[in-house]
Amino acid sequence: MEHTGSPPLVPDQRHFGAYQYEIYLGGLSGQVPPITTDLSALAEIARDRMEPTAYGYVAGGAGTGATMRANRAAFDRWRIVPRMLRDVTVRDLSRTVLGTRMPAPVLLAPVGVLSVVHPEGELAVARAAASLGLPLVHSTVASYPMEEVAQAAGDAPRWYQLYWPRDREVAVSFLERAERAGYEALVVTLDTFLLAWRTRDLDQAYLPFLQRVGLANYLADPAFRAGLAKPAEEDPAAAVAHWAAMFADPSKTWEDLPFLREHWDGPILLKGILHPDDARRAVDAGMDGVIVSNHGGRQVDGSIAALDALPGVAAAVDGRAAILFDSGIRTGADVVKALALGADAVLVGRPYVYGLALGGEEGVRHVLRCLLAELDLTLALSGHTTPDQLTPDALVHA
Ligand SMILES: Cc1cc2nc3c(=O)[nH]c(=O)nc-3n(C[C@H](O)[C@H](O)[C@H](O)COP(=O)(O)O)c2cc1C
Repeated sequence: MEHTGSPPLVPDQRHFGAYQYEIYLGGLSGQVPPITTDLSALAEIARDRMEPTAYGYVAGGAGTGATMRANRAAFDRWRIVPRMLRDVTVRDLSRTVLGTRMPAPVLLAPVGVLSVVHPEGELAVARAAASLGLPLVHSTVASYPMEEVAQAAGDAPRWYQLYWPRDREVAVSFLERAERAGYEALVVTLDTFLLAWRTRDLDQAYLPFLQRVGLANYLADPAFRAGLAKPAEEDPAAAVAHWAAMFADPSKTWEDLPFLREHWDGPILLKGILHPDDARRAVDAGMDGVIVSNHGGRQVDGSIAALDALPGVAAAVDGRAAILFDSGIRTGADVVKALALGADAVLVGRPYVYGLALGGEEGVRHVLRCLLAELDLTLALSGHTTPDQLTPDALVHA
C-alpha cells in the first residue's frame, strides 16, 4: 500500500490505484498527464522524441523482432477471469522476495547505457524508483558507476546485475564493490555471452560502448584500470579494446557457478532461464532464484516467448527457489498474468526507459505509478486483495 500522509480525497487513496483520482482531479484545473497512461503506446510516442540511434537501441530486438512480438502475443493468449462479490476494499500488494521487501512485486529491470536516453540516466531512474520504494537492478553496463547510483537510491532496495567478465579479478572487484555499495542480491545474466544480431543497431552501425558509453562501472574499477597500460583518459581506445576483450565469455558453464557463491554472500539469481531443465539445474546448484526472461527479445530471434516458458519453469522449481519474470510486461494486467502463472515478482524494462526519455525522473515515476495503479485496479476488479491469491485458476488460455 502507498501511504501519502495527506488527508484522503477519495476512500481508497492509500492504494496505488488512487493515481487515477489524482489525474482526474488535475483535469478540474485543465491538467492532463504530460505522458500517456497507456504504457503500450509509449514506444511509438518516444520514437519521435528520441535520437534515432538511441531509439533503435532501446526498441530493437534480435533479427526480425519475432521474439518481441511473441512476448506480447503470449500475454494476449491468457485471459483473466474476474470473480465477483469478494470484499476487495483493502489491498496489500507488498511482497518480500529473497529478503527484499517491496511495496509491490515489481522491480526495474537492469537496462544499460541509459545516458543515451537522458543525461541523468540511471541516477534519475534510481531516484524515481526510490520515491516509490521499488527495487532497481543496476546494470553492469550502466552509464553511471554503481556507487553513484546507490547514493541516488538512498535507502531504497537495490540489486546488482552482473555481466560476468572473462577477467576474474574484475569480476571479483565488481562483486565486492556491489556488496560495499549496499546491493542486496546478485542477478547474473546468462543470455548475453555474445552480442546478438541486432539489425536496428547494425543498420545504423551503432554500438554505444565503442564510444565509451555504458562503461562507467569498468572505468571506475581498480582491477579494470590495473589492466591498462595508460589511464583510460589518456588512451580511451585502448580502454574500449580492454573492455571488449573481457565483456563476453561464451566459455562459461554450469561448473563455473561456485565462483559466484565464493564471492557473493547474498542471494543469487540467474537471469535468462527459459528451459525447465536449466531451472532445475540452477536450483540444484544452490541458486536462490531464476529470472524467466528472453532479454526482451533482444538475443535469440524466434525464441520461445518468456511467458510461455514460465509455467514449465514454475513446475520444475516447485517452490525451491524464487521465480522472477520479465520480457513483454506493459500493463498491470500483464503483471497479474505473470504472477498467476508462477512468478514471485516481475521486472519491467522498456516502459520505464521510454518514461525516462519523455520526462526524465518524473517520466519514470509516472510510468511506474501507472503500472502500479493498473496492477492494483486489475487485482481488485478481478476479485483479489493480495498477489498471493493469484494462481493459474485466475486465468484461462484463450
Ligand atoms: C535498452 C536495453 C538495455 C538492456 N540492458 C540490459 C543489461 O544491461 N543487463 C541485463 O541483464 N539486461 C538488459 N536488458 C534486458 C532487460 O533487463 C529485460 O530483460 C528486458 O528489457 C525485459 O523486456 P521488456 O523490455 O519487454 O520489459 C536491456 C534491455 C533493453 C531494452
